Amino acid sequence: MNRRPIIAGNWKMNGLKEALSFFSALDLPKAGEGRCDVVVCPPATLLAAASEAAAASGAMTGGQDCHVNESGAHTGDISATMLADAGARYVIVGHSERRTDHHEDDAHVQAKAVAAHGVGLVPIICVGESLEDRQRGHAEAVVEEQFKNSVPASFGANDYVVAYEPVWAIGTGETASLDDIASMHAFIRSLSVNGEDLRVLYGGSVKPGNAADILALTDVDGALVGGASLDAADFAAIIKSV
Ligand code: PGA
Repeated sequence: MNRRPIIAGNWKMNGLKEALSFFSALDLPKAGEGRCDVVVCPPATLLAAASEAAAASGAMTGGQDCHVNESGAHTGDISATMLADAGARYVIVGHSERRTDHHEDDAHVQAKAVAAHGVGLVPIICVGESLEDRQRGHAEAVVEEQFKNSVPASFGANDYVVAYEPVWAIGTGETASLDDIASMHAFIRSLSVNGEDLRVLYGGSVKPGNAADILALTDVDGALVGGASLDAADFAAIIKSV
């Protein structure tokens, strides 16, 4: 077992050109020399420029979503090939905001993961229960269902990354308790073939103030950070807490 942690930032629909100064402000060690991999997922408009800035700073980039097809008549969509062409190494698929806003189901998420892997990107496959699921005691069942149907059966543990993001903790300032995070991460790992090699990130209101405790949990291999990844000082503080 040698799981290198990942701190990934998801800028969502935020960031204009001036946001590119973010990368130098992180003040990272050279790629591969720090304690974790750092991945920033900017909006698609910034991806190519961000990939250059990231490479110079020791970080990597990822897309926030991809289409299942490589090219074609899909107005407004972006393929995994295009993300790779713009320098991305990762792509988030199945984020709860995509599942809700764009009605993406598990089968669709799985097809995106296949498309991403096919062009050499590492898909970050998101799963997570709603507050109602958790209150009814269905959190594990919901996550298991999402996992089994969103992760391609052919994938080995190094072909993808999972992000466990309880929907009710995203952008709300609420985080799951450390006990709940620990048990869900161990559960997700148990669902994967060669799960000891699978990197499972936690996401949902990760901030400098709570990152160290969350990242110290045995089965937490990093974080997917939304709001706090928009501020270089906050994101750098989270990276330092690995
Ligand atoms: P948040 O977002 O850190 O703002 O809660 C996390 C995510 O949506 O990936």
